[in-house]
Amino acid sequence: MLCLTSSKNTINEVVKEVNQYRKNIDLVELRIDLLKEEEKLKAQEFPALIDLPVILTYRRKSDGGAYTGSEKSRLKLFKSLALSYKFAYVDIEEDVKTSTFDKELREKGVRIIRSYHDFEDNQKDLISKINRIANKGDIPKIAIMTRNIFDVYQIFLAAEQLEHIKEKIIVGMSQAGIPTRLLYKKIGSLLMYCSSDEKINDLGHLNARIMDELYRVREVNENTKIYGIIGDPVMHSLSPSIHNPGFKQIRFNAIYIPFLVDNINIFFKLAERIKIFGFSVTVPHKRSVIPFLGLINREVKLIGSCNTVIRSRNQWKGINTDYYGFLDPLKEDLDNQKIKKVLIIGAGGAARAVVWALKSYNCKLIIVNRNEEKAKALANETMSSYDKLSRASSYADVDMIVQTTSVGMMPNIKETPLKDYNFKENQIVYDLVYTPKLTTFLLDAKSKGCKLIYGWDMLYKQGKLQFEAFTGYHYPKSAEIFV
Ligand code: ATR
Repeated sequence: MLCLTSSKNTINEVVKEVNQYRKNIDLVELRIDLLKEEEKLKAQEFPALIDLPVILTYRRKSDGGAYTGSEKSRLKLFKSLALSYKFAYVDIEEDVKTSTFDKELREKGVRIIRSYHDFEDNQKDLISKINRIANKGDIPKIAIMTRNIFDVYQIFLAAEQLEHIKEKIIVGMSQAGIPTRLLYKKIGSLLMYCSSDEKINDLGHLNARIMDELYRVREVNENTKIYGIIGDPVMHSLSPSIHNPGFKQIRFNAIYIPFLVDNINIFFKLAERIKIFGFSVTVPHKRSVIPFLGLINREVKLIGSCNTVIRSRNQWKGINTDYYGFLDPLKEDLDNQKIKKVLIIGAGGAARAVVWALKSYNCKLIIVNRNEEKAKALANETMSSYDKLSRASSYADVDMIVQTTSVGMMPNIKETPLKDYNFKENQIVYDLVYTPKLTTFLLDAKSKGCKLIYGWDMLYKQGKLQFEAFTGYHYPKSAEIFV
């Protein structure tokens, strides 16, 4: 079940919020602590207004809520609302002693969620806490601050031990915890919370439409294959918006999700444990992933960088779809020998794929980078020229300029690595950054009439190639990129 957590401060506003997402959700958590004082008493009318099951929650500040008054008055209002028996569920914090009240609620069929919020990530007594609550017939809810991929791994391990408890709620809070939210059905969580905010907040709360229509989390079952993208940062990635609609279109039972990974070793442990079938790799892991692979193809060997990993029998296989994805929009100009001399900005992982791909067409390359030593190393390896980034403007007679660094990427959209370059009309200018589509670097080139190639074009092509590697099927023409 998907549960919309209310965020508005009047009942009318919450009703509007619910109506906007009605088709994406199964129930609503009404957060009394977020309502204006004069609205709190009206809460009793709320379930009848929306005709969906409602969880009554009155959250203290210490548990991540907004309530700062006395415990006595909180419980007084909470109990009077709960004892109206209009709420299908009531959420009471684990430490609050309310045994007679609990009994009355149980007798009337109101389900009690006993919640425990762990902002310190102690994960202390997690298993015994959940068992104790479940033994009373209530629904344990544990929300744990997940600081990194190790904490996420721990939650999946705990979920295995708690498999026998059918009704429980487990949430990994923070952006690192997003896999626990998107895979809540794999974890065995009865429901997952979502919000009406378009943006993901610090707790990793995702929008209801995104959860339901992009990730289709409610359709995940034991046969759903897990795919994803690893990176740090990773939430900006558009890859989920390519792969998930593709899966849907060809009726492939799979989900593709972002994993914020700070430790690649732990991620591979997690990948084995929860049986991930394949994943995309982005900054900063394209090189560090290689020692974990049993098989690599020619491009990975050449480039020394891997952007796609697939499970191949009992080992991991690495391929690099950036190589062909990069070349795809240039095919015609390369075949017609319109691109002979190229200036490449950057000498990181992305640049390596670009350099080797252009080398296969015998282009003459000049690599410029902030750190000249890195440019030199890549240039020596590929028989190219190199220079400092600050000297880029002295290379005016090139047919194409390729921008491979992350400069200009959201949120720093005003930045460009080439401030005073004199673009010429006949040049092709290619930026690998795809958020925003039109970067400052491309805008400068556009003003001089250059032919632009967007990072989006490469992303889309390399994504389609990944899709083929993941599923064995062509990316469906009719799939619509989720926006
Ligand atoms: P990727 O896989 O995206 O290429 P990377 O291997 O970390 O990531 O490489 C990042 C590239 O962006 C490098 O060329 C880096 O330059 P340095 O080698 O000098 O660090 C470049 N880069 C990142 N931030 C930059 C900035 N603010 N100005 C100029 N170049 C930058």
